Amino acid sequence: MEGIKIAELLSKKNLNKSHFIYGWIKTFRGNRFISINDGSTSQNLQCVIEYEKINESLLKKINTGASISIYGELIESQGKGQKFEIKVKELKIIGESDPDNYPIQPKKHSLEFLREKAHLRIRTSTFSSVMRIRSALSFAIHEFFQKKKFFYINTPIITGSDAEGAGEMFRVSTLDPTSPILDEKNQIDFSKDFFGKETNLTVSGQLEAEAYALGLGEVYTFGPTFRAENSNTSRHLSEFWMIEPEMAFYNLEKNMDLAEEFIISILNKILKNCSDDLSFLNERQIKEDKNKPLQERSPMNLIEKLNFVVKNKFKRLNYSEAFNILKNCSKNKKNKFKFKVENWGMDFQSEHERFLVEKHFKCPVIVFDYPVEIKAFYMRLNDDKKTVGAMDILFPGIGEIVGGSQREERLDILQKRMKELKIEEKELWWYLELRKFGSVPHSGFGLGFERLVQFATGMSNIRDVIPFPRTPQNANF
Ligand code: 4AD
Ligand code: MG
Repeated sequence: MEGIKIAELLSKKNLNKSHFIYGWIKTFRGNRFISINDGSTSQNLQCVIEYEKINESLLKKINTGASISIYGELIESQGKGQKFEIKVKELKIIGESDPDNYPIQPKKHSLEFLREKAHLRIRTSTFSSVMRIRSALSFAIHEFFQKKKFFYINTPIITGSDAEGAGEMFRVSTLDPTSPILDEKNQIDFSKDFFGKETNLTVSGQLEAEAYALGLGEVYTFGPTFRAENSNTSRHLSEFWMIEPEMAFYNLEKNMDLAEEFIISILNKILKNCSDDLSFLNERQIKEDKNKPLQERSPMNLIEKLNFVVKNKFKRLNYSEAFNILKNCSKNKKNKFKFKVENWGMDFQSEHERFLVEKHFKCPVIVFDYPVEIKAFYMRLNDDKKTVGAMDILFPGIGEIVGGSQREERLDILQKRMKELKIEEKELWWYLELRKFGSVPHSGFGLGFERLVQFATGMSNIRDVIPFPRTPQNANF
């Protein structure tokens, strides 16, 4: 089936030549105009038929949702709304569609409705634009690290260490759930399970990436991670993708520099390479915004927001500075936060993060040096003994997009911290060995891929930037 993609057809201006095109029918108007899309671009192609020349039974099959092949000549369009159109010479229906029952009608559907039709929503202009941008971002991420000579590594998806401390995990087991084998204490006997121990889906590839950084130097993972938290928000998925670079001989500052350069570089790439899809989503957002109350409208449209982020430096401040801003702001004093900012050491909620980014600084923010009590065991203790070398990057509309730190490379301090948190050394014996044999200062971070895609596409719900979202009570498809 030799054919040309619509994106290529329109970009190369193959005017006055005939081509084969394959795609799906979006609309059929006036017995003459078939609008088709093949997934290669947000632009539909208008194909004009002379219906007098088409037999009745074929005409009946030209319905929204059907797949079609067309052979015809690309000409300048007479009508408004498109520059070019195809003058159809030959037309075949490949797969018929029942127009009355096809869920994706040529009208506006709500995103909630489309989530229930996740197998077909990719046929809409919005979802195809989002997914093309998602793909371009993926490519840009690999390109960024490969150019810097980082090595791409694949860390395990099934993990045997239950001490990663990044949230609740999904158990992986082949034991019979109705009658699991019990040990003498009447507990489930995981030594009889498939791996001879308790195993889970990974929440992060970091600990294993650290091992590889301490041999390869600079590495990154880009894979699925799983969290069994019951967070039903527009920014949480139970299965999401994370990019985790890990670098030997990096301190926290170098880590922040890399993270900032990384985000700016990949957003620049899509501004350059995805202009059609970004324009489409930009228009969409402007229209959506018009239906919102004034105070909820975004001050910048999508493209302005992306340009703003790539052209301005991120604001960096430590936890204590951020805490003071929040504690003393009038919103806090008027008790307008759900969680009042009172005591140093508290964890910031997303309302606080968004206040810093959207109201106070009006740009992406990096908060670093967090209180030791609210951060993971592996983060490097600062000299003040009260804070660790952690950093979170906060984005407008999203909140936390990156979490990272310098890692504790000193064996005795790491052991002490694990003891305090009751993490058994035997669970992480290999992680401790990395500190016994040639330990070095090292750092890394994790970027939530879907949160990045959300930011880049302006989609307000994270469920709409991954093909088949997994969230509490939802693993359909
Ligand atoms: O801050 P987190 O939990 O950090 C880690 O997992 C570290 N091990 C990363 C590292 O240093 N290598 O998660 C990192 C990022 C968050 O900033 C957020 O963008 C995203 O992952 N994230 C989620 N995205 C979607 N759904 C969820 N449930 C997420 N939880 C975290
Ligand atoms: Mg975090």
